[in-house]
Amino acid sequence: MSAQAGQSLAHESAAAQVAGAVTYIDDIAEVRGTLHAAPILSTQAHARLLGVNASAALAMPGVVDVVLAADVPGDKVLAAFAGDEPVFPTDTVQYLGQVVGLVLARSAAQARHAARKVQLQLEALPAILSIDAALAAQSYVLPPVFVRRGAPETALEASAHTLHGTLEVGGQEHFYLESQIAYALPQEQNQWLVYSSTQHPGELQHWVAHALGIDNHAVRVECRRMGGGFGGKETQAGHVAVWAAVAAHKTGQAVKLRLDRDDDFLITGKRHPFAYEYRAGFDASGRLTALKLQMAANCGFSADLSGPVADRAVFHCDNAYYLSDVEIASYRCKTHCQSHTAFRGFGGPQGVIVIEAILGDIARHLGLDPLDVRLRNLYSDEAVPGGALKRDTTHYQMKVEDNILLPLISQLEQTAQYRSRVQAVAAWNAGNAVLKRGLALTPVKFGISFTATLFNQAGALVHVYTDGSVQVNHGGTEMGQGLHTKVAQIVADELGIGFERVLCTASDTSKVPNASATAASSGTDLNGRAAQFAARHVRDNLAAFVCGMDGCGAGAIRFEAGQVISPKTTRSFEDVVRQAYANRIQLWSDGFYRTPKIHYDKTTLTGRPFYYFAYGAACTEVAIDTLTGESRVLRVDILHDVGRSINPAIDIGQIEGGFVQGMGWLTTEELVWNSAGLLTTHAPSTYKIPTAGDVPKHFHVALWPQPNQEDNVFGSKAVGEPPFMLAISVFEALRDAVAQARGDGTAVSLNAPATAENVLRSLRAL
Ligand code: MTE
Ligand code: MOS
Repeated sequence: MSAQAGQSLAHESAAAQVAGAVTYIDDIAEVRGTLHAAPILSTQAHARLLGVNASAALAMPGVVDVVLAADVPGDKVLAAFAGDEPVFPTDTVQYLGQVVGLVLARSAAQARHAARKVQLQLEALPAILSIDAALAAQSYVLPPVFVRRGAPETALEASAHTLHGTLEVGGQEHFYLESQIAYALPQEQNQWLVYSSTQHPGELQHWVAHALGIDNHAVRVECRRMGGGFGGKETQAGHVAVWAAVAAHKTGQAVKLRLDRDDDFLITGKRHPFAYEYRAGFDASGRLTALKLQMAANCGFSADLSGPVADRAVFHCDNAYYLSDVEIASYRCKTHCQSHTAFRGFGGPQGVIVIEAILGDIARHLGLDPLDVRLRNLYSDEAVPGGALKRDTTHYQMKVEDNILLPLISQLEQTAQYRSRVQAVAAWNAGNAVLKRGLALTPVKFGISFTATLFNQAGALVHVYTDGSVQVNHGGTEMGQGLHTKVAQIVADELGIGFERVLCTASDTSKVPNASATAASSGTDLNGRAAQFAARHVRDNLAAFVCGMDGCGAGAIRFEAGQVISPKTTRSFEDVVRQAYANRIQLWSDGFYRTPKIHYDKTTLTGRPFYYFAYGAACTEVAIDTLTGESRVLRVDILHDVGRSINPAIDIGQIEGGFVQGMGWLTTEELVWNSAGLLTTHAPSTYKIPTAGDVPKHFHVALWPQPNQEDNVFGSKAVGEPPFMLAISVFEALRDAVAQARGDGTAVSLNAPATAENVLRSLRAL
């Protein structure tokens, strides 16, 4: 093995990115006649659209045209999965910020100025602007889902203790540094090239073709990299691309649409805000004996990915814990706001946070240490009394076969010195009247695979050129997470050559077709394996060729350190490639992978939706100022399971980045809609993401040393999303600090994000 996989190599374009030397979509040289588009936004949350008056806009300098629903040549309904979104609205607008049409001009600035001059004739309709209002009106984008095991009602009655509580958790803006952008170029014979910053080129291709009324094969979508996606470019990039393509179709010119930050905020969906109500039964040791949980997701005006997001919340509201008698009711609420969408964790965080909050509440109610209560509830091999069952099966009937929760948590408990720090925090609080500290250790168990089984497939192409250099193309997309780096490492490893000999090229629907979104953290699992198989085919061809020359069995050939070694001869990889080419041996191949073992029933949400689980735990210490409500994360210790790491540097980067992004979600990032449905926090001036200064001063990340127990590429585990949920330890530590500040053992009512205002509010509830 030349061991290219397993090394902390730098991200394939890190140096070029920091030098400003890579090409984002907005950097692509514009073709002659390119028009710039700006969106015309609805100014009401819910209204009848009676007319659009663009005459003032059209009279402005540089303005070329206006594009509206009537200009969509194909289906005016977007090819989104639920078929419930128009490309542009025809008769009603459904949120404040909805794109009614585009203004096209010679420059982006001209288009933006003119878009503001377009007058919409709107007649207000009643708007539903909150989860409560949606629940009351039974306003849903999709029907509710119920998952049940055992007899929760009787179990609740029989429980020694019960607790009732509510929790609200806010949404989150993706805040990718590169805002949404698409550049649509007409090609010959009604064919189209679309550059898009998208996590899902294949779906975008389909959406554009559908809106233009043409075949998928006439649309090619390319994306070399995104300046961040975080789930926000899974479907939301599609709208932007379709709008640009429709405009390009109308004018016959290339059209670029780049949303400015405020418009991106107002137009695109965010992480789903959730509201919960629970009734928990438990024994004196804090072990859950019954749970009835209602989770309501604010989905916005359309379904988008809300079904699978809310499903994943249901799949993760157990987190690391066995729920014996349980009922979960999941409501997918329709409101008149942006259509909320995928965001790192994809509903998982909204599932995990509620069970962690419940266990924290139970611990405080009983006066027990929250970690002891968590440990008491972990999945384990322990038998369930009165039957053959064990405490190892989830509420959706999947057996947790790769459980490492107890050893992993125990190790972190030791290295973070949890027990002695509980004492130290209490002592510190006793001596400080204004500042109070809190501590929490929370685990994560995150299911890996798309819950929609069909998406768990991938393809790749590996081309070996006659000089021995290699190009890889696969269906995944690069958004900063290091997918291309890992895939190139895997291919280099397979061919026994140096990493620098392998180049990953732009995602392109004309190379690998029908690719799934790069999402669900499965980019490397799927595309890495497909690329490994493709490389293996080429290697097999080369090995057979060498065997023919040396008269040995193909198994006797090794590919190592740039050399091809047979029992007889050692040749350089380049020499073998050159000779193979001269002998007409195929030097390129495709590869295809589909995840084994997974299946599940969509209607009952039962089965094995996940190939395996990724685990982790974090121990976080915070301080709050009881006069201002301000907080700070003082120290974080993380132990996280990435299996056998393909690239430890990149994995640790994902863990740190995911954690800090999760911290933002739960502390400072607050989305505020006013009573008219306007998102008032639509710029960095009012919406606060964490910055370098918020990174905890003591931030220790360690990797769990064991490989994946399932046969996954290189023995690795997915890492993109699971660490995000480690930040729930910040929220639980804040709740601990509030409890310690109040010191009266009463319940802590603190919603997320725990902004200074919310912390103060929960302290004042005293
Ligand atoms: N890391 C960076 N730097 N930028 C991103 O946009 N997206 C996250 C995660 N890490 C993201 C990121 C999300 S939401 C997912 S699903 C995964 O990366 C997707 O990539 P992967 O499947 O290759 O891990
Ligand atoms: Mo990630 S939310 O699955 O794109």
